[in-house]
Amino acid sequence: MREYDIGFKVKVCSMAELEACDAELVGAAMRATETSYSPYSHFKVGAAIRLESGEIIMGSNQENASYPVGCCAERTALFWCGANRRDEVIKAIAIAACTRGKFTSDVTGPCGMCRQALLEVEHKQGSPIRLLLYGTNGIHIVDSIGSIVPFSFYSDSLSL
Ligand code: THU
Repeated sequence: MREYDIGFKVKVCSMAELEACDAELVGAAMRATETSYSPYSHFKVGAAIRLESGEIIMGSNQENASYPVGCCAERTALFWCGANRRDEVIKAIAIAACTRGKFTSDVTGPCGMCRQALLEVEHKQGSPIRLLLYGTNGIHIVDSIGSIVPFSFYSDSLSL
């Protein structure tokens, strides 16, 4: 039998330590929480995507009385990019969440379904999408979506 590690690096920093363009992206994710439609969970999530052109696309979670119909903030923003900025490379996504009027102290990472959706785009464009996860205790930065989806399933897995 043999064992191996699948590790990845996470940088943790404060807002003040971020480069200006990353601070702007995290700020946009925080602002995007204001457009959340979350009357069921009261958990407001905001996502902000940085495109290669420099443009920022924002999204927020959109819930529904039929719970599974709702959509996470990340996929709201990601699919908007797919529909409206099809050929643009995504450089980074920032995520923030707030509940009971306060931003969470711990970071909010993308759910499994959003990781899979982001991974598809990362593979398609052939370059990493950085993740900036906001919490009042610190911002956690990961260099690619692939890092947080080990043993991932993607187009090559289908061997088509
Ligand atoms: N949610 C997101 O928007 N993104 C995540 O990464 C985690 C969860 C939303 C879905 C639902 O509207 C609410 O947060 C509670 O799960």
